[in-house]
Amino acid sequence: MANKWYVSFFLLFMIPFSLLPKSYAQSTNQSNDEHQILLELKKHWGSSPALGRWNSTSAAHCNWQGITCTNGAVTGISLPNQTFVKPIPPSICLLKNLTRLDLSYNNFSTSFPTVLYNCSNLKYLDLSNNAFAGQLPSDLNHLSALFKHLNLSSNSFTGKIPPSIGWFPRLKSLLLDSNQFDGSYPAQNISNLVDLEVLTLAHNPFMPAPVPVEFGRLTRLTFLWLSNMNITDEIPESLSSLIDLNLLDFSSNNIQGKIPTWIWQHKKLQYLYLYDNRFTGEIEPNVTALNMVEIDVSSNELTGTIPDGFGKLTNLTLLFLYFNKLNGSIPPSIGLLPKLTDIRLFNNMLSGSLPPELEFPKSLWSVVTNQLSTVMIQNNSFSGTFPKQLPWNFTRLDISNNRFSGPIPTLAGKMKIFIAANNFLSGEIPWDLTGISQVTEFDLSRNQISGSLPMTIGVLARLNALNLSGNQISGNIPAVFGFMTVLTILDLSLNKLSGDIPKDFNNLKLNFLNLSMNQLTGEIPISLQNEAYEQSFLFNPGLCVSTNNLLHNLPICRARTNVNNDVSRRLIALFSSVGSIMLLGSAVLGIMLLRKKKHKQDHLSWKLTPFHILHFTANDILSGLCEQNWIGSGRSGKVYRVYAGDRASGGRMVAVKKIWNTPNLDDKLEKDFLAEVQILGEIRHTNIVKLLCCMSSSGAKLLVYEYMENGSLHQWLHQRERIGAPAPLDWPKRLQIAIDSARGLCYMHHDCSPPIVHRDVKSANILLDPNFRAKMADFGLARILLRAGDSESFSAIAGTFGYMAPEYGHRLKVNEKIDVYSFGVVLLELITGRVANDGGEYYCLAQWAWRQYKEYGLSVDLLDEGIRDLTHVEDVLAVFTLAVICTGGQPSARPSMKDVLRVLLQFDRTSNGGILQDDISDETALSCIID
Ligand SMILES: *[C@@H]1O[C@H](CO)[C@@H](O)[C@H](O)[C@H]1NC(C)=O
Ligand SMILES: *[C@@H]1O[C@H](CO)[C@@H](O)[C@H](O)[C@H]1NC(C)=O
Ligand SMILES: *[C@@H]1O[C@H](CO)[C@@H](O)[C@H](O)[C@H]1NC(C)=O
Ligand SMILES: *[C@@H]1O[C@H](CO)[C@@H](O)[C@H](O)[C@H]1NC(C)=O
Ligand SMILES: *[C@@H]1O[C@H](CO)[C@@H](O)[C@H](O)[C@H]1NC(C)=O
Ligand SMILES: *[C@@H]1O[C@H](CO)[C@@H](O)[C@H](O)[C@H]1NC(C)=O
Repeated sequence: MANKWYVSFFLLFMIPFSLLPKSYAQSTNQSNDEHQILLELKKHWGSSPALGRWNSTSAAHCNWQGITCTNGAVTGISLPNQTFVKPIPPSICLLKNLTRLDLSYNNFSTSFPTVLYNCSNLKYLDLSNNAFAGQLPSDLNHLSALFKHLNLSSNSFTGKIPPSIGWFPRLKSLLLDSNQFDGSYPAQNISNLVDLEVLTLAHNPFMPAPVPVEFGRLTRLTFLWLSNMNITDEIPESLSSLIDLNLLDFSSNNIQGKIPTWIWQHKKLQYLYLYDNRFTGEIEPNVTALNMVEIDVSSNELTGTIPDGFGKLTNLTLLFLYFNKLNGSIPPSIGLLPKLTDIRLFNNMLSGSLPPELEFPKSLWSVVTNQLSTVMIQNNSFSGTFPKQLPWNFTRLDISNNRFSGPIPTLAGKMKIFIAANNFLSGEIPWDLTGISQVTEFDLSRNQISGSLPMTIGVLARLNALNLSGNQISGNIPAVFGFMTVLTILDLSLNKLSGDIPKDFNNLKLNFLNLSMNQLTGEIPISLQNEAYEQSFLFNPGLCVSTNNLLHNLPICRARTNVNNDVSRRLIALFSSVGSIMLLGSAVLGIMLLRKKKHKQDHLSWKLTPFHILHFTANDILSGLCEQNWIGSGRSGKVYRVYAGDRASGGRMVAVKKIWNTPNLDDKLEKDFLAEVQILGEIRHTNIVKLLCCMSSSGAKLLVYEYMENGSLHQWLHQRERIGAPAPLDWPKRLQIAIDSARGLCYMHHDCSPPIVHRDVKSANILLDPNFRAKMADFGLARILLRAGDSESFSAIAGTFGYMAPEYGHRLKVNEKIDVYSFGVVLLELITGRVANDGGEYYCLAQWAWRQYKEYGLSVDLLDEGIRDLTHVEDVLAVFTLAVICTGGQPSARPSMKDVLRVLLQFDRTSNGGILQDDISDETALSCIID
């Protein structure tokens, strides 16, 4: 084997090496050869932060960054994080003494580099955090038998883990987590690796299965990470033999039964993560695992009480027991743990009161626990009062939804988040707030706070969210609020505040403001007089607005109406300075102004036409149209992502498309618009994005769609880094997306009469749900805009460059074959990974593909790098051919969407391939007949 590589290496690098003084093959001078091999590596991988400093003039390659030598021979290469893309070259194994290779955090995307089989001394290999893909080869054991450390985590490997993984007798660490391995893993073989100290299989989509009993043989394990891999049943007793464990992580599985007693009595265990499973029963009361540092058993179904024994774990820093069914009180001893920094017990049924009855809170709040910084005990039934002063180190305290009473404590100096909503706290807000100048979130809503808002609140310069609603606070709103410029959420509703809203509120950029149900008076600051704050001032009988900014249900301020109106003021100035000659002109101007005002008034009355059962109101949508929720702009308008309705009553995320302010539509056009939208709203198809409702006022139109979590296909193909996608889409996903969108188009073309043409099919209009099922978006939108008579948006109907069929633009009358053309372009994007308008010298992708096809035929070079693995190549190339046919110049020669779908289904190897689904059979009821 080695000889063979020798020869091929020689052929590969013949030219550079023939320039050397002595023939390489003689190998007389290992160091010289290795120097040359490294320079070739540099040439191959291109310049990178570390390689940039390797050069031929500095002879001592043993000093180059990333290189380790032993007795002058290269034994280690460590080049993480260098942006390498090109495959690992065979020449690397010519470094005969190489024992350690670390290429983690690069951009390799090939299959497993079997070239490393020739590195006969390799013991340590780290390829983690790349994009290696495909199955691991079954003959993986061809890697050196000396292996001690193999790290393949955080890649895109798929398929089953081969049994040969268990054939490295000296392996000490095996890291396979965070890949796409599936099926069952070879537990028997892995359990033969009796020297293993580190084993990670977490975050892989394995078939549901229990923890292998055989793992009990891995008695040297110190680090066992098996989270998020579909584990079922109970933890086997055999694991109690893993007496050296330092970390045990079974989180996010489906494990049941009691947490085994041995875990709570483990002598060495420091980190225990069992959260997000289905553990039941009580926690073993006899806790003697004295080395525990972090315990997280949250989100299970644990019952009983918190064991007193936790109070003996003197090294404990983190204790998470939230989302269980624990009852009783917190053992006093926990309050005395010297290193505890973070305790989260929320959403249990815990109770108990503060001193004098119980010792715990005294110690929990006291200076003894000077490390404690986070306490989250909300949603329990704790009661009692606070000490006057909380410990200095607290940064986050959430005690909401309990039964605490008494005055508000003087807060701790490092406090960032203080949430005490829904208790029985009383008294005034302390005047001295200087101690908590770091606080960002402050919530005392639904208590019994009285007195007024102290002016000193202005010292809270980092305050982001303030909620004091539902108390009995009286007096004025201090003007100092206007200078709290990072405030984005302010809720003072349901109090007894009176007086004006300070004018300086104009300085604030609030996402949420609620001053409702107070006794405020006077004019609302100008910048708050708009739709976004429509719900902010309800039930304050004394508030008013100026004329040109009508809000629902609020009267116009009488005395200030015109004086405050800038335009009017200018108009008056105009009058007096120019005199009566201008009278006529001014009158005209005045009339125009009036019309404009009238228009603005109409603008604020919204008509909502629902097409589905809605769990939100028009106001929910309107209040969400703020800059923070803006997610993009198309040519037709802005798009917002809005959480509409409240969680309890089925609220959900929606996408709101705000069509650019359309000019005044006359009644007929308005009717046409609504008729068009009605047709789209009544479409029910799994592969078409649901139009939930339409909102219309004379100035603007809002289309509210279901929200698609995974964004658009365009982003997944072309903006992978921007959206943080871990790996390129694989072929089965791409095919599924093609089939789904073809179904959507097929339905609109063949099951609607007359057919509905999309007119703007493109990857940006194909949206993906959490399972990567695709839906077509913006169906018929182009046509709506055309119907709405908006000549300015004519560009919107002209399709998108790169996707437009050649006849589009030349002919007024187009048919559904323009969609087939655009869909062909989408197929090409899916296959080649190129963007639609990038054809290099060939003008666009469709042209480029046609050229390639004609001149070079079908070849793997056409394919996107993410889908070059050989299992699907034939299918992919067949679909490429289909795409070329779809993008043919002659509309009549293009297949129909029904034909396209039929072909695509032939390549669907996962499910009922080849069978047409009901939704495209001819005789289904036509739900969208245009009258
Ligand atoms: C080569 O390395 C030496 C020493 O690090 C440096 O001074 C020199 O500029 C480098 N030459 C090139 C061409 O990068
Ligand atoms: C990779 O390099 C970048 C910049 O050089 C650095 O910010 C980042 O922390 C590095 N990441 C790792 C994992 O070393
Ligand atoms: C390098 O490896 C060769 C063969 O495995 C061995 O003979 C030689 O001693 C090693 N050199 C060093 C410096 O370890
Ligand atoms: C668990 O197994 C099921 C059935 O094989 C599979 O569909 C699912 O993706 C797996 N879940 C995870 C989180 O791996
Ligand atoms: C608690 O468990 C330990 C073993 O870790 C044992 O020695 C001790 O007797 C037990 N104590 C009680 C009270 O059961
Ligand atoms: C706690 O941690 C210290 C070092 O931080 C260590 O010496 C000690 O053994 C640990 N265990 C116990 C039970 O104190």
